[in-house]
Amino acid sequence: MKLAGARVLVTGGGRGIGRYLVDRLVAEGALLGVLDQDMALCAELRSTGCSKAWSCNLAESDEVDLAVQAMLDEGFEPDVLINNAGIIHSEPLVNLLARGDRVHSRESWRKVMAADLDSVFFVTSRVVDHMLSKRRKGVVISISSIAANGNAGQTAYAAAKAGVNALTRTWAKELGPMGYRFAAIAPGFIDTPSTRAALNEANLARLQQQIPLRRLGDLESIFLAARHIIESDYLSGTVLEIDGGLVI
Ligand SMILES: NC(=O)c1ccc[n+]([C@@H]2O[C@H](COP(=O)([O-])OP(=O)(O)OC[C@H]3O[C@@H](n4cnc5c(N)ncnc54)[C@H](O)[C@@H]3O)[C@@H](O)[C@H]2O)c1
Repeated sequence: MKLAGARVLVTGGGRGIGRYLVDRLVAEGALLGVLDQDMALCAELRSTGCSKAWSCNLAESDEVDLAVQAMLDEGFEPDVLINNAGIIHSEPLVNLLARGDRVHSRESWRKVMAADLDSVFFVTSRVVDHMLSKRRKGVVISISSIAANGNAGQTAYAAAKAGVNALTRTWAKELGPMGYRFAAIAPGFIDTPSTRAALNEANLARLQQQIPLRRLGDLESIFLAARHIIESDYLSGTVLEIDGGLVI
């Protein structure tokens, strides 16, 4: 699919990786729509004129249905969906240092699964259904994580991202015969404010020693992966790991 002129919907496009993708895709001539729970960021995106934006909590199916309908009513019909919205959460199965109940909080498990996995299912099902009804082909990219391979201290997050990879492969098989392509991007540690906030200087230095390329990834590497997926018409069912070699 050609990027110039393509209508691309980015979830969580208000900041971080999603916002970078929005800005780079606009620069390549794509037409952008954003779904994000942050109303102020949605308003800002609209005011810049670079993207349309609708605010909703993607973890709530009713809100997703209303927001997708509002988007379609405004005439924005995506050719490409990028499921990027999500929350990064670290918590061990049993916290040996905690007093009282030491097991992983049920509440945070549900919150992470809702934000990182349910949201992908809710948005993709509505958007692909619309593409099918219009008999238009489409591409769906989901931002996963190398945590999907298993990561100590990230029980819920790893499970949610493994679920995202499974959905990607399942939908590639189910809808490939109709011309739809699905792929995931699994970043390692990307240099974003959320990554820096989660790591102190000592942890950051230790982490960089474990990465064969000895540095955090830049946002451009995620954009290049997304562009490659959109433009490569024989690519489907793939999980692209963009991690400087960390999972080798
Ligand atoms: N930053 C990294 O190094 C890294 C590494 C691996 C994977 N990822 C994945 O990349 C994606 C983006 O990460 P980021 O670092 O840019 O995060 P971020 O926190 O900087 O931005 C996330 C965006 O998604 C939106 N969002 C979150 N939950 C939402 C919800 N329920 N409904 C609507 N909008 C919601 C937020 O408002 C925000 O605009 C996530 O899926 C994350 O798991 C990030």
